[in-house]
Amino acid sequence: MKVPLFDMTRQYESLRDEILNVVDSVFKSGRLIMGENVKRFEEEMQNYLNVKHAIGVANGSDALYIAARSLGIKDGDFVITTAFTFFATVSCVTRNGGTPIFVDIDENTFNIDLDQVEKVLKDHPARNKIRAIIPVHLFGRTVDLERLEYIRQQYGVKILEDCAQSVGSTWQFSDGTVKKSGSVGDVSILSFFPTKNLGAHGDAGMILTNDEHLAEFCRIFRVHGAKVKYFHEMEGVNSRLDEVQAAILRVKLKRLDSFHQRRRDLAKLYNELFEKYDLTNHVVCPPLGEGFECVFHQYVVRVKHGHRDRLKSYLESRGVETAIYYPLGMHRQKCFAHLPRVELEKTDRACAEVLALPMFPELREEEVEYVVKCIKDYFEGECAC
Ligand SMILES: Cc1ncc(COP(=O)(O)O)c(C=O)c1O
Repeated sequence: MKVPLFDMTRQYESLRDEILNVVDSVFKSGRLIMGENVKRFEEEMQNYLNVKHAIGVANGSDALYIAARSLGIKDGDFVITTAFTFFATVSCVTRNGGTPIFVDIDENTFNIDLDQVEKVLKDHPARNKIRAIIPVHLFGRTVDLERLEYIRQQYGVKILEDCAQSVGSTWQFSDGTVKKSGSVGDVSILSFFPTKNLGAHGDAGMILTNDEHLAEFCRIFRVHGAKVKYFHEMEGVNSRLDEVQAAILRVKLKRLDSFHQRRRDLAKLYNELFEKYDLTNHVVCPPLGEGFECVFHQYVVRVKHGHRDRLKSYLESRGVETAIYYPLGMHRQKCFAHLPRVELEKTDRACAEVLALPMFPELREEEVEYVVKCIKDYFEGECAC
């Protein structure tokens, strides 16, 4: 059996007619940039996430760059973030002239450790120059939004939520209110890269905010800094979401909650099978969630006792595709070698242990069973040696 990590063609098969229809309408309309679909998609995302402004851009990395810019991050500013993330979370700070301060992760969630964040805000020599925090809701699991709100109020820092992997994930506050990731930050971003839970058929991204001034800044910045065409108020960039992508994303948005539910069901099945085959000594599974709803952008396990790379090769030999997010923390990247050195023990350990197993809504139960069966075979073979 061959089990892909992700297979977009299966989703396309089920949505093909509808997608081709809306793409055809866009082509027939002759309006390919900043038309009705972008406007409607932005409104639909505002409703879905309960935010006041949603601004479509060309990709998630641009969204981060523009969002960081809108917060005024510049030369001499410091920004707290995680090193266990995708490059763009960090480059949006450095490309704007700021300096990232990396803090370690919480081992159970892989997300930024908010105790460490508070420690830095209190004790760091540059604490007066810390302008913002960029939490990443990694693999679809929400960072504690209530605590983020507290930290913002307590320390007067801005929050930029990186929701590239978490569209639709939720957090329940102590008063029972439920909020979605992206609705709490001063500004937040989404990526619609094809493999994301809400995936375009190309690149696409979005900026979210409840602040009218930040929204206005981002709207102008994405079109060369010109509110009125050919009259440039700032040196912006060209970063627009195009009509074809917006039209396709509107089709998928209608199904997004059912895609999420399917991912959660598959995660539950994985966890049950790991229990059933008594593999939990070797493999640490992600929790399904209480008080938050994970959207399982990735199903990532920790493989203990140094077996990760051998297990990965073994799975490959059995036709199971896996991936490592991420093999090297941002604090160890060559391009950030000039930044102050920092030891992040938990991040390094995660880099050595994580393994993403196949996860997408169209993945079949028998494929999940096959993946876990292969992992069982691996450990039985290993233990017999
Ligand atoms: C956490 C995170 N931030 C930002 C991005 C950047 O998004 P994009 O690929 O749309 O530029 C990604 C995409 O992989 C991501 O995973």
